[in-house]
Amino acid sequence: MKAVIFDLDGVVVDTAKYHYLAWRKLAGELGFEFDISHNERLKGVSRMESLNIVLETGGVKGLTEEEKQDLADRKNRYYLQMIQGIGESEILPGIPEFIAGLKEKGYKIALGSASKSGGMILEKLKLAGVFDAIVDGNLVARAKPDPQVFVTAAEFLKIPCENCTVVEDAKAGIEAAKAGGMRCVGVGNREMLKAADIVVDSTAELKGLIEVL
Ligand code: BG6
Ligand code: MG
Repeated sequence: MKAVIFDLDGVVVDTAKYHYLAWRKLAGELGFEFDISHNERLKGVSRMESLNIVLETGGVKGLTEEEKQDLADRKNRYYLQMIQGIGESEILPGIPEFIAGLKEKGYKIALGSASKSGGMILEKLKLAGVFDAIVDGNLVARAKPDPQVFVTAAEFLKIPCENCTVVEDAKAGIEAAKAGGMRCVGVGNREMLKAADIVVDSTAELKGLIEVL
């Protein structure tokens, strides 16, 4: 038995842009600009770690844990407002075909997302029933690059880690997959994702990889 474990944001659905826009709004309110050049660093990492990166780029120091929690909550409220109306049209190109092709070949599929909204977003996309296991940020304590999210997904599927392939758009996610002893396909920037076994430019190319997984 083999499995493919999908990251959510930036792989299944185009939500990475809403995470960015929500952080940018927060940064603007704090009096600095969070520009897209720093955004790669936020991909795949937890909400709190993302906040730390955003504050660092703005030179904001000395906040209490409580103040930081308030800011993270505020960003999450903006994010949830932005994705309120999200639907099937924001599933990334080729993902439904890739999933259908995997199922045809007998693969199990799972979600392995850092986001606490992961399960809820899959519901909105009408994809929740398609996944054999769903692990999101509510189920794990340790964020990527720790492999916990992917290893938990493999455990739910009862498939050994060495038979799992992770699909990821984030450096932290590739590191997590490798730390879990899994193969990994990167989607996006080749330089950034060079630790992956295979890198494709776009999710539209994933279906073409089924034979080599
Ligand atoms: C990851 C995103 O999937 O989830 C990160 O790539 C995000 O940008 C992280 O910070 C946590 O998401 P959430 O929805 O729990 O804040
Ligand atoms: Mg991602």
